[in-house]
Amino acid sequence: MQKTVRSTLFSEEQIERRVGELAKAISDDYRDKGNVVLIGILKGSFIFLADLSRKLDIDRTVEFIAVSSYHGATSGAVRMIMDVRGDIAGRHVLIVEDIVDTGNTLKYLIQILKSRNPASLKTCALLHKAEATVADVPIDYVGFPIGDEWVVGYGLDYDEFGRTLPYIGVIDPD
Ligand code: IMP
Ligand code: MG
Repeated sequence: MQKTVRSTLFSEEQIERRVGELAKAISDDYRDKGNVVLIGILKGSFIFLADLSRKLDIDRTVEFIAVSSYHGATSGAVRMIMDVRGDIAGRHVLIVEDIVDTGNTLKYLIQILKSRNPASLKTCALLHKAEATVADVPIDYVGFPIGDEWVVGYGLDYDEFGRTLPYIGVIDPD
């Protein structure tokens, strides 16, 4: 059955404005640190990272990690399927996520990346489902807090539906 978007949660303009604000805050915080390594979590963060990275006015490097999460019996188990290319030891690292839901993915990534001894490790998520978050994870930069609904667009999908919509919308649960 074809999914449909029920309503727009954030328009292109709202997203652009908020991403600009995040870029400003991040630029200010990292300005005197040299280079920041932005690690986008695939696939969901690819559009957010593309926009955010272009709005920064500091020295930055882009890397990607891909993870897959299992649901059901092993809910919360996360597995890395693609790692960064570069060594992050001694580097300032910022994880860039599309959305934090339970927080399990971010918790897993923080554990792994911390063990590689970066100079600093911070996190940025465009969206945060605060009510749904069970893992105790710090999110240093949040675009928008949202309710516990399934959203698509701007990189986020439901079984690939909606991923490249320019806005963020809520889908109808069936
Ligand atoms: P967490 O580990 O439960 O925090 O889930 C993180 C991942 O689940 C995100 O990176 C997304 O890929 C996916 N996810 C959670 N909620 C949504 C949503 O509303 N729309 C699209 N993807 C979501
Ligand atoms: Mg994701």
